[in-house]
Amino acid sequence: MSEQGGAQTRGTVIVTGANRGIGKALALGLAADGYPVAMVGRSLDKLEAARGEAADPDRIRCYAADIARHEDVQAAVKAIEADAEAIHGLVNNAGITRDGLVMRLSPEQWQEVLDVNLTGTFFFTRAIAPLMMRQRSGRIVNISSVIGLAGNAGQANYAASKAGIVAMTKSVARELGGRGVTCNAIAPGFIETDMTADLPEKVRTDMLKSIPLKRFGAVSDLLGAVRFMLSPDAAWITGQTLVVDGGMVM
Ligand code: NAI
Repeated sequence: MSEQGGAQTRGTVIVTGANRGIGKALALGLAADGYPVAMVGRSLDKLEAARGEAADPDRIRCYAADIARHEDVQAAVKAIEADAEAIHGLVNNAGITRDGLVMRLSPEQWQEVLDVNLTGTFFFTRAIAPLMMRQRSGRIVNISSVIGLAGNAGQANYAASKAGIVAMTKSVARELGGRGVTCNAIAPGFIETDMTADLPEKVRTDMLKSIPLKRFGAVSDLLGAVRFMLSPDAAWITGQTLVVDGGMVM
């Protein structure tokens, strides 16, 4: 058994926004690695359907929560803690976009994105931190975005939320480091999921030109980065943002 963490310790990894896209791929991939996984999402039915696609569904439990609702998050974390032997990691993945040029962006579109992406990440971190501190171990991995580093026309709300995650990651890393808990962020570039499926062809073509590795990312490209952050090999890394984008932003 590893002292440092990792699948061998059987500590549960929580993945938010796990019913589709990156979150689902991370949840199923980490379960295949041997981690017990807690999938969190708004719809239990959708989570159960995603869980059904796992090679070993028995390793996965599903919990319903809207991450923008504090009471939902507290209830989900309480249930996960009751079911799990130990919590190894939290992957704050759930996120949304509500795009619009800044002059036309409604206050509601602004607030909704901040509420889910930034406040939801805070709620989950706040709820899990006491347990990780008591354990004197834990890995928090926040899914930011290259948009949070470079900005993007039409995404002021999303960019602000993802930049906020980078700054929160550093603060949490400073607060929890003394108790052996790390907090890092992953900033993905363009990953092929439902979130990016609707982009106009022209935007996709232009974006592809700006990627040195000449392809869009697959969800599997992120699994490797998250797996690393959860592994013993990342034990001395905290407060960092790892850009996984084919070289688009550097
Ligand atoms: P997606 O739209 O396919 O999945 C987002 C997931 O979050 C869904 O499962 C959705 O149900 C869940 N979710 C949304 N609001 C929620 C709430 N209030 N409570 C609980 N769950 C909620 O998106 P995708 O592409 O899988 O994105 C996952 C994360 O990766 C997001 O944080 C996104 O910002 C980030 N990201 C995605 C990139 C991409 O190119 N696809 C690039 C950079 C970052």
